[in-house]
Amino acid sequence: MAEKNWQAYDKDHIWHPYTQMQLVPEAIGVDRGEGSYLYLSDGRKIFDAISSWWLTLHGHAHPVIAKAIAAQAKKLEQVIFAGFTHEPASVLAKKLIEHAPEKLEKVFFSDDGSTAVEVAMKMCVQYWHQHKETRTTFLALDGAYHGDTFGAMSASARGIFTHPFGSMLFHVIHMPFPTPPVNGSKEYSKSEELFLEQLRNHAKHDHRIAGFIYEPLLLAAGGMKTWRSNVMEEAVKIAKEYGVLTIADEVMTGFGRTRTFFASDTIAFPPDIMTLSKGITGGFLPLGVTLATKKIYEAFLSDDRSQTFFHGHSYTGNPISCAAAVASFGIFEQEPVMDRIATICSVHNELMPKLAEKNNYNFRIQGTMAAMEPKNPEGYLSAKMQALGKACLDKGMLIRPLGDTIYFLPPYSTTRQDLEEAYGKLQEILDNDF
Ligand SMILES: Cc1ncc(COP(=O)(O)O)c(C=O)c1O
Repeated sequence: MAEKNWQAYDKDHIWHPYTQMQLVPEAIGVDRGEGSYLYLSDGRKIFDAISSWWLTLHGHAHPVIAKAIAAQAKKLEQVIFAGFTHEPASVLAKKLIEHAPEKLEKVFFSDDGSTAVEVAMKMCVQYWHQHKETRTTFLALDGAYHGDTFGAMSASARGIFTHPFGSMLFHVIHMPFPTPPVNGSKEYSKSEELFLEQLRNHAKHDHRIAGFIYEPLLLAAGGMKTWRSNVMEEAVKIAKEYGVLTIADEVMTGFGRTRTFFASDTIAFPPDIMTLSKGITGGFLPLGVTLATKKIYEAFLSDDRSQTFFHGHSYTGNPISCAAAVASFGIFEQEPVMDRIATICSVHNELMPKLAEKNNYNFRIQGTMAAMEPKNPEGYLSAKMQALGKACLDKGMLIRPLGDTIYFLPPYSTTRQDLEEAYGKLQEILDNDF
């Protein structure tokens, strides 16, 4: 189809995610990507400041991953994963286990972040079932976002995304989000204290609790809110003390986003289960992973086939996705990725506080993520922020505010100069239009 034709066809027939189709005239055509930039069908080049929904890790169309995908596609594109296996799955499992917090030694594949979370929650519930206990309630954080399937929605905060389905979601206890103290004090803030106290009470007294699910260090879609690793460590310690299983949802934070390889690396106690997706394939192909300890895995072993973990998806362990993920690990090994991450972090630390101060915004930085929001926020549907997103695009930058929160989470291919330019452009927009 010629360019005009395919874009017109999209407008007439394609239903886009998280998009009010009546209000968005048409989707922006993208012809190609390279490094941190997207090349649009109308000839413009834009900086991908949000890694295309937090996926793109080493840059768009990284040739090493592209080559690995092509080679795997010619060799074995797909095979049933029940009872069959292939080399890319094993090589990837080994790399994941080598990098993951200790004791996470079993790898369950699925397709995306939401399914990785569903798997984790089902594993928890069935783990207790295997032990002849009925535990079906989860603990989670206020403001959490774990995905759009029903289990993941249940674990997520109730709000605009889940509203129509409210009566269909199962019971999850959402505890106060542990906001760090404003003055940077080492002491716990009120909300940190409240969170730890509620966690302890539920973990100690409520024997329906199957597990505690949390986004380590960074509540992503909930507004890029940060929390402290000492609080996370204490929370995991409390959960372990009372036998509550812990699920670290690293779908967004994994693979260096918060500066360490996994956000869970910053604490002394490993989770029982960890979910991964997004950047796992470098952002090339869908893949979800749920890592579990041997203790969890062994609870499912039985002579009785009815005790099986009856969960799987058609594309589980897809060889091409696994090959892409192995190639992404190869880039970590071959290229100075951790240095690139450090550069992004240092630009954020230099420029975000100044930008926020100048414009009277609050700000937060967590590794390669830097976010800011007005001191008087308007709420998730803020028209002003929608307009700001559009103004950014007009200036050659993909920024998609999360409600009132404007943030940068660029691919690791981003240079100091790219990011400094992006900060400069954002300041110009705030100067002129907002
Ligand atoms: C922490 C977290 N968990 C789960 C998900 C769901 O992942 P997916 O969109 O791949 O289903 C997301 C997506 O933003 C996420 O940020």
